[in-house]
Amino acid sequence: MAAADPPPPAADDSSPTVTAQRLIGRVALITGGASGIGESIARLFHKHGAKICIADLQDNLGQKLCESLGGETNACYCHCDVTEEYDVSHAVDYAVEKFGTLDVMVNNAGITGPPCPDIRSCDLSTFEKVFDINVKGTFLGMKHAARIMIPSKKGSIVSLCSVASTIGGLGPHAYTGSKHAVLGLTRNVAAELGLHGIRVNCVSPYAVATGLALAHLPEEERTEDAYDGFRAYVKQKANLVGPELTANDVANAVLFLASDEARYISGDNLMVDGGFTCVKNTLGVFR
Ligand SMILES: NC(=O)c1ccc[n+]([C@@H]2O[C@H](COP(=O)([O-])OP(=O)(O)OC[C@H]3O[C@@H](n4cnc5c(N)ncnc54)[C@H](O)[C@@H]3O)[C@@H](O)[C@H]2O)c1
Repeated sequence: MAAADPPPPAADDSSPTVTAQRLIGRVALITGGASGIGESIARLFHKHGAKICIADLQDNLGQKLCESLGGETNACYCHCDVTEEYDVSHAVDYAVEKFGTLDVMVNNAGITGPPCPDIRSCDLSTFEKVFDINVKGTFLGMKHAARIMIPSKKGSIVSLCSVASTIGGLGPHAYTGSKHAVLGLTRNVAAELGLHGIRVNCVSPYAVATGLALAHLPEEERTEDAYDGFRAYVKQKANLVGPELTANDVANAVLFLASDEARYISGDNLMVDGGFTCVKNTLGVFR
């Protein structure tokens, strides 16, 4: 080699094997996976070859979903209240017992609490419930996933956050506070678990017409069909004209962060908001 020649490039293993199925052989636990966005994540992960464990309170829905994914060999259901440490710990152990390990933890279970446009009448027990499910539940998911992932020196933890994680005025105080906390937890846990080769990220969607979101349409915007009314309202408030945000769009972002394509992404808050949080916006919850 001549003196002026550049050194040869280091071995590059950054191109994951390209496969149509991006989670082949992976085991994923999805809290709140029986319905809404969690269900879309479960269906998409299954399509991409993952074994799924669904942890939720809605036993019938969760079990039916597992059957529709091919039953025991592909998916299992575990009753789990994410506010109970025993339940979360058990769900993690159950996934490992059924499928041998845990590669992906999706902390998706979440609630908004009821609309409360006047802080003077916000109920403390409601505030605590929202924090219990959204923040404590996410923390417990991270803690017990780490218990399995640290010894194997790999894994991906993805938590459902929200556009309300970065700006105010988009939802009840408890919800906004809790989603800011989920973002803080994501960054802090990423700092620790990076030492073990584990990636920790969150995904922040704009509005998707699920049971959680429908209740927050301002009264004057409500139409006979709550679902259509919600979609029309959030479309009108959206930044990106054209596509309408669906649960599948959110699931695709979670899939990306769970897969090897995101192998160097950690501590990130992936906005799935069509640019909504980049511009001055409000959903009028305090009007
Ligand atoms: N829908 C939206 O517009 C939107 C926007 C931004 C973020 N998100 C976030 O996405 C996540 C999923 O929301 P969604 O719209 O699908 O809601 P959803 O209400 O449709 O579904 C939530 C799921 O979580 C389960 N769940 C609730 N409490 C639980 C508990 N204590 N233990 C275990 N499971 C529990 C429910 O049974 C349900 O299956 C939430 O974290 C939410 O904050 C939703």
